[in-house]
Amino acid sequence: MNLITDQATKLRLLAQSCIARARTIAVTSGKGGVGKSNIALNMAIAAAKLGHRVTLVDADLGLANIDVLADLKARYNIAHVISGRKNIVEIIADGPAGIKVIPGASGLASLADLPEDRRERLVAQLEYLESTADLVFVDTGAGINRNVIDFAAAADDALVLATPEPTSIMDAYATIKVLSRQADYGNVRILMNMVSGGSEAERIANQIIRVSKDFLGMCVEPAGYVVRDEAVEAAVRSRRPFMLAYPGSHASCCLRKSLKMLDIRHNAKRLSGDKGFFRRLFGRFISGKT
Ligand SMILES: Nc1ncnc2c1ncn2[C@@H]1O[C@H](COP(=O)(O)OP(=O)(O)O)[C@@H](O)[C@H]1O
Ligand SMILES: [Mg+2]
Repeated sequence: MNLITDQATKLRLLAQSCIARARTIAVTSGKGGVGKSNIALNMAIAAAKLGHRVTLVDADLGLANIDVLADLKARYNIAHVISGRKNIVEIIADGPAGIKVIPGASGLASLADLPEDRRERLVAQLEYLESTADLVFVDTGAGINRNVIDFAAAADDALVLATPEPTSIMDAYATIKVLSRQADYGNVRILMNMVSGGSEAERIANQIIRVSKDFLGMCVEPAGYVVRDEAVEAAVRSRRPFMLAYPGSHASCCLRKSLKMLDIRHNAKRLSGDKGFFRRLFGRFISGKT
């Protein structure tokens, strides 16, 4: 009997280790309005254009969220799945360049309140989505509240955005500081947005990297920069992603370079072993309630 149970456990573990899971990249920042939604959406599109299967999770309830930026007609969101009115496949929206969008995933935290059997069914569905994508981008909200940090820490890569404004630099550092205190987190990277050029980006990013190392003992990696570019504003006004409306713009070129720096062909190694992003995320939600 014990032998059979042992074998079943081994088989399950083997099956889990064989499942190819998406690499998850959370785009986050301390401050709002620094370009998270634009960077998450357009990086997702750039990755899709390279042939990767990409899912974008909209976990920000801010004003300029993904459905507005990409002119999506998303009728349902994760709240409909949690209430049991829809299943996960029904809420996935088809986004530009073939990306899949999970709208309004901020309701995910309330999954922790569900009875265990229903929660397990939903997590299993989310895990299935994860196993059918190569990359999952997460557009988190701004700030250093629990929910944002949960998404950033559960991801393989937390892409912290900062602009040259002193408040944004301070807030990016505050986000890195909170991340450094988590029990488990992935790679932490800094991406500069709305800069005048490479030298300004490098100067500020190096400052953040040095301070994080000296004061937090934290290894933050550079993830490139995106210049301030009118093409981004024009694209936002026309509700088209700049990567598609202005693929030759300076901002689009910068973002493609940033994506290259992430080396997306490789999966990140996590301390938490073979658990995927959503299972790590729910583990955090549940432990946050106890
Ligand atoms: N690289 C850029 N160049 C010019 N404007 C930008 C750039 N990135 C963002 N913006 C402007 O900032 C606004 C806020 O961006 P958004 O992605 O909605 O930020 P967040 O999601 O962090 O709140 C956009 O509407 C756009 O006009
Ligand atoms: Mg946003």
